[in-house]
Amino acid sequence: MVDIEKISKAVEIIKESNHIVVFSGAGISTESGIEDFRSEGGLWSRYDPSIYASYQYFLQDPSKFWQMHKELEGIVANAESNNAHKAIAELEKIGKVKAIITQNIDMLHQKSGSGTYGAKIYELHGAYGILHCVNCGKEFAFEEVDTKRVEYPVCECSGYIKPKVVLFGESLPRSVLDGAMNACRDCDCFIMVGSSLVISPANFMPSIAKNHGAYVIFVNRENTMMDDLADVFIKGSAGEIFTELMKRIKK
Ligand code: APR
Repeated sequence: MVDIEKISKAVEIIKESNHIVVFSGAGISTESGIEDFRSEGGLWSRYDPSIYASYQYFLQDPSKFWQMHKELEGIVANAESNNAHKAIAELEKIGKVKAIITQNIDMLHQKSGSGTYGAKIYELHGAYGILHCVNCGKEFAFEEVDTKRVEYPVCECSGYIKPKVVLFGESLPRSVLDGAMNACRDCDCFIMVGSSLVISPANFMPSIAKNHGAYVIFVNRENTMMDDLADVFIKGSAGEIFTELMKRIKK
């Protein structure tokens, strides 16, 4: 059951704000059928990230990463955005949301129309659709690489091919990180949705926004270690909460 008092407080803040930053994590996409990482039964309970999502490990043996990727790529490619993604796109359309910072690689914000009304999307951990060779840097579109008939794809230069997603041990793209941090400094309201906020530097964002005077709203199923930053914490499912928020914002 959604806490209506908290919804009303968040609506008040959103109505007053004109420069909102949305920060999303895997939890926003669970209602689109993509599992998150750290909830009970999440991806990291089946795949040890220090093996399957480690860049150092990938360089020695890319087969583990690709084993996991093959299980997930169809699910991610076929997923549709849900009510939470759609509400965020609507908030952009009415001029409220100016930037979306996401840890997700699923591109569901773009699928819901975000980014087409002027907001900038910062994909801190990359996106699944583009691959590259870790040796020569050559880029490939998803469809260009045969990942089905091989254990892992290899470039013509013999380097290993990997999606342009950030694995543990890799740096985040500098310009994306800088842009995201600047957006947090400039916003008047910061909405975090669906993240455990345990991964740095992504989890610096809420405190940057807070320290620069923004209202902070958290929408999450579980508590996080950063809950004291939130002016309003609405606990529950993102799709349901954003539906309630939009009903009242549009009134
Ligand atoms: N609505 C709201 N919250 C949800 C929902 C939902 N439908 N489903 C899950 N959640 C919450 C969970 O309770 C959890 O707190 O979303 C959070 C997801 O946390 P994680 O699985 O840790 O995902 P995330 O925070 O995005 O992980 C950060 O870790 O391994 C890396 O690179 C990976 O980008 C990822 C990063």
